[in-house]
Amino acid sequence: MSDMNEIELDTKAFLVSETDEKGIIRFANDEFCKYAGYSLDELLGKPHSIVRHPDMPRAAFKDLWDTIKKGERWRGFVKNRAKDGRYYWVFATVYPFISCDGSKGYISCRRKISQMEKEKYEALYKEMRAKE
Ligand SMILES: Cc1cc2nc3c(=O)[nH]c(=O)nc-3n(C[C@H](O)[C@H](O)[C@H](O)COP(=O)(O)O)c2cc1C
Repeated sequence: MSDMNEIELDTKAFLVSETDEKGIIRFANDEFCKYAGYSLDELLGKPHSIVRHPDMPRAAFKDLWDTIKKGERWRGFVKNRAKDGRYYWVFATVYPFISCDGSKGYISCRRKISQMEKEKYEALYKEMRAKE
């Protein structure tokens, strides 16, 4: 089933972004910018919630932050909102790291998910949102 509001990721797409300790964007690769619909300049210095989709349950991001603040890796399914209001699903892996200047930060790497995974998480997150 195709949805006009969905942006389908390319099978080989690899979207990367980096934030500081507070989730402020410090870097995004070309593919991140392309799918999100923002130029790099528009993203730098902005909170990562710039691509937050209202369908995402709060608990998902609480889990993300609780995990990475402990210094652990977080992996999960995320529905993001592009600048034009459309959405795109990703499977994200977020890592804590220390950059070359010694400051702490986080990196997220994202890839395409399957139709079955989209349907599963669309339904699960809807249920979670309804209970918020
Ligand atoms: C490295 C990194 C990448 C992130 N990527 C996303 C993302 O792609 N989409 C998103 O909605 N939130 C992402 N977040 C989480 C946001 O910082 C934020 O917690 C989330 O959007 C919820 O926004 P809110 O806390 O203002 O409600 C990321 C956080 C980090 C540290």
